[in-house]
Amino acid sequence: MISREENQLLTQTGPGTPCGELLRRYWQPAALSEEIKPDGAPLAVTLMNEELVVFRDQQGRAGVLDAHCCHRGADLSYGRLEDGGLRCIYHGWLYDVNGNILEQPGEPNGGAFRHTYSQPSYPCREIGGVILTYLGPGEPPLVPNYEFFQVPEDHRFVSKIFHQCNYLQSNEGNIDPVHLSFLHRNLELTELDKNRRVNGSESSPNALFGTDLAPRIEVEVTDFGVRIFTVRDIENDKIYFRTSNFIMPNFTTFPGQTAAEGYSVNWHVPIDDYSHWKFVIVFSRKRSLDRAQMLRGRDELKANYHMIRDKANRYLQDRASMQSKSFSGIGHNFQAQDACVIEGAGKIQDRTKEHLVSSDKAIVAARKLLLKGIEDVKGGRDPVHVMRDSSANSFAHIAVISEVAPRSADIRSIVNQRIADQRSSTR
Ligand code: FES
Ligand SMILES: [Fe+2]
Repeated sequence: MISREENQLLTQTGPGTPCGELLRRYWQPAALSEEIKPDGAPLAVTLMNEELVVFRDQQGRAGVLDAHCCHRGADLSYGRLEDGGLRCIYHGWLYDVNGNILEQPGEPNGGAFRHTYSQPSYPCREIGGVILTYLGPGEPPLVPNYEFFQVPEDHRFVSKIFHQCNYLQSNEGNIDPVHLSFLHRNLELTELDKNRRVNGSESSPNALFGTDLAPRIEVEVTDFGVRIFTVRDIENDKIYFRTSNFIMPNFTTFPGQTAAEGYSVNWHVPIDDYSHWKFVIVFSRKRSLDRAQMLRGRDELKANYHMIRDKANRYLQDRASMQSKSFSGIGHNFQAQDACVIEGAGKIQDRTKEHLVSSDKAIVAARKLLLKGIEDVKGGRDPVHVMRDSSANSFAHIAVISEVAPRSADIRSIVNQRIADQRSSTR
């Protein structure tokens, strides 16, 4: 349980709010590359309560501008993409990707003063199928060289999913390993389960989640956030252990579909305080992903990246299926199951009413880090994981592991060995 004040502190993300200022110290996804097709429409994006337009100019460059034209406020997402920039449909002012005013065609001499001001714009980098932007003050930090941004394009799949609740609920759901044994447990063998084996075992992750419902959880604070160790006892004196990570300030990495050869990322980006996008990135270090299969993961997603199962239709829960198909009765799609419980906690969960238990220790650790980050920003310091040093800008140590080992195994030394292996293969 936290106080009402702390709950507000961690969940308010608009400009000038303490957490909003913390989130603005990091690069954040604004859109998927696929959303701004060459010659496609500009995209209206609300990010942490700020209205923006994301667009691609005729040269293919992406830009992020304030949505409201600096002339008299028209919405630039309705603009024309032409003549090297984005043209407002109200009076035809033309902007480049950096907000420079290229033309003011309704003014004598094309606008003699147009170079003395500009459309507010934000630094923007297109990397790994994602448009990142920086809404903070001063010199932007380095874009972190995460592995998932570095692999070849066909080794990665990106998507996003709308959620009608505060970003922190999603984030806390992702760093909670116990719910895998309940919310996400299948009661039948699915096609996916048939084809998935945990490293060192003949069982699927889902089968192992059901073997020990009360795993041991340990956390370790790192230079990127929190590493979470989850250990389940299974048969034959073995353990199933996983590591996942909370990466400051608003994403998580976990084994997912490419466990052992990559990992999955859920990046929870506030739209406003009552809704957020979950940007999903899956990658493999070793192989190109089967794109047709990955796209099947979007079967329950509409074209606008909203889920078919939502609060209005009660996530299409099928209570009969709770006997034999899935614990939740919400099909086999983890995303829909997650949406039901995190949206179900309310638009902003009232954390003054919660009762945290020992298995919530990762959530406690993540909240402490966020509160520390808020204090750092207030004190004029960079919070943890803001990258300024290029020699430290590599992340082989975001270890994401899912494997079966003997009960006597020293899991920390296995993790350290995996990190060392990963470091040497990326050198
Ligand atoms: S409001 Fe955009 S050009 Fe006038
Ligand atoms: Fe989940």
